[in-house]
Amino acid sequence: MELKGQNDTIDSWKEVNLIYNAALRQVQTKMEILNEEFQHVHQYNPIEHIKARIKTPESIVKKLKRHGVESTIENMVNHINDIAGVRIICSFTSDIYRVADMIRNQKDIKVIAVKDYITYPKTSGYRSYHMIVTVPVYLSDRIVDTKVEIQIRTVAMDFWASLEHKIHYKFEGDAPQHIRTELVECARMVADLDSRMLMLNDEITMISYELEVAKIKAEEEKRKKRLEKQAQEAEA
Ligand code: GTP
Ligand code: MG
Repeated sequence: MELKGQNDTIDSWKEVNLIYNAALRQVQTKMEILNEEFQHVHQYNPIEHIKARIKTPESIVKKLKRHGVESTIENMVNHINDIAGVRIICSFTSDIYRVADMIRNQKDIKVIAVKDYITYPKTSGYRSYHMIVTVPVYLSDRIVDTKVEIQIRTVAMDFWASLEHKIHYKFEGDAPQHIRTELVECARMVADLDSRMLMLNDEITMISYELEVAKIKAEEEKRKKRLEKQAQEAEA
């Protein structure tokens, strides 16, 4: 594989690898910190787990060919948004939007594009929330704003996407109609499952909250009675 260097900020594959790896690690660490802080404040983890990967040189070259452009470092940096990719897996759909907001609120992360395939699923049935962001990578002599693709989805959406990807790969994008129909039907079931699990979780959260309030009220009542009794005893 040959990637010619013409870009004056990033000029070799080795440097590309170093910079995108640094960007990937930064986003991953930021997400882990946010998750830990959320756990500390709310006793709850919006992120189930995180996967991160750097696109292989082979698939970068393949994608550049698909775009009809020459395999140069400059084209790769300009045309390919998912050289660094982070996948964030959440339990519930509401967590996805919570995590997306937390990303938006990070001062040094710049969001350059968003695709909400949850509100608007693809015809394949694919559902996921995508963000293309840049993070500043601090080198010894300069700062390089580096693109990272962030995909945020639920465990169920991820389960569906990995099987669909396997099928897509196996049939080279031309799966038999009955398999595609079945996949769309499964995607509908996944969406239904996600919304039912979310409703259940909301109900459980509400019940726990009500139980907590009832407990506090009962303790307060007990304390009041004890004080009244003490006052009566003092009077007697
Ligand atoms: P790519 O050139 O494939 O990266 O797509 P794009 O630049 O048009 O962006 P898009 O947001 O559509 O897709 C980005 C990534 O999302 C892909 O590289 C896949 O990882 C994932 N993705 C998008 N559509 C599908 C789909 O139908 N099925 C699965 N399994 N994954 C998908
Ligand atoms: Mg991709």
